[in-house]
Amino acid sequence: MAALKTENQDNQWLLSDINWSKLDLTSVTPELLAAVKTAALVEANSGDYVIYLHNIFPNDAEFKRLADIWGEEEVQHGAALGRWAELVDPTFDFSSRVDHFRSLYQLPLNVSESVRGTNEGELIARCVVEAGTCSYYSAIRDFTQEPVLKQICTYIARDESRHYRLFKDNGLKRASLGFFQRLKVAIGRVVEVNDDELGYAWHAANAPLEEIGVNYDREKCTGMYNRIVAGMYERKHMDAAVHMVASAIGLRSQSRFMQLFKKIAWWRLKKYSQSGAVFFSP
Ligand SMILES: [Fe+2]
Ligand SMILES: [Fe+2]
Repeated sequence: MAALKTENQDNQWLLSDINWSKLDLTSVTPELLAAVKTAALVEANSGDYVIYLHNIFPNDAEFKRLADIWGEEEVQHGAALGRWAELVDPTFDFSSRVDHFRSLYQLPLNVSESVRGTNEGELIARCVVEAGTCSYYSAIRDFTQEPVLKQICTYIARDESRHYRLFKDNGLKRASLGFFQRLKVAIGRVVEVNDDELGYAWHAANAPLEEIGVNYDREKCTGMYNRIVAGMYERKHMDAAVHMVASAIGLRSQSRFMQLFKKIAWWRLKKYSQSGAVFFSP
């Protein structure tokens, strides 16, 4: 893969920078593998989101240029995670699983306005996603003993933090929404965690090939994924995610709202880890 043209050369990494030979299969559980396969598909599908961003920011050449770079980095995240999953599980064909996912789930590309109602809302929703992915890969990095995955997630978490700042800075430039409008967008995007994107990604990544698109159960798929993810999070990862989201909507770090949101988020995450369908090896 060619080197990415990032804004900061220090952030640049390549698949060839990963110490693939250090792979330690003994420290990979089926649950961790299933979660990584799922994340790989979502990341790999980011190209469509670049098209969507171009559609809704048609006159902002600089933002579109940054969105192109962002998209390349997200696709590289998928490639790194997908390669790792293929090495751990040689029966896993990343490319064909991505195709299956794309046949099940696609972003609305024939739009000229953000589905969030405003472009500022779109950028806030992106901050929620990047805050979530930053905390997710940080959690895996700290949870896993597998050295290659740890390295990959260290790189990716760093990228996601930078992506968050990209969208946050561009959102601040456009600031026109009131606090409660921004809060509504953020909560709406958080709730979407249980929508079909992750559910289909789980299904396309982990179901037996002959069952893909046939026996899809969103609640079961998102339940298994959320349960595994919740088991890897520590309080610090969730607090960091809440802090990033709250900061994107304009909350001060010491506000009582911030502390309340952190408590609610942690409580909700623990509910996920105690409920939901139990993972079964596909
Ligand atoms: Fe990513
Ligand atoms: Fe990202």
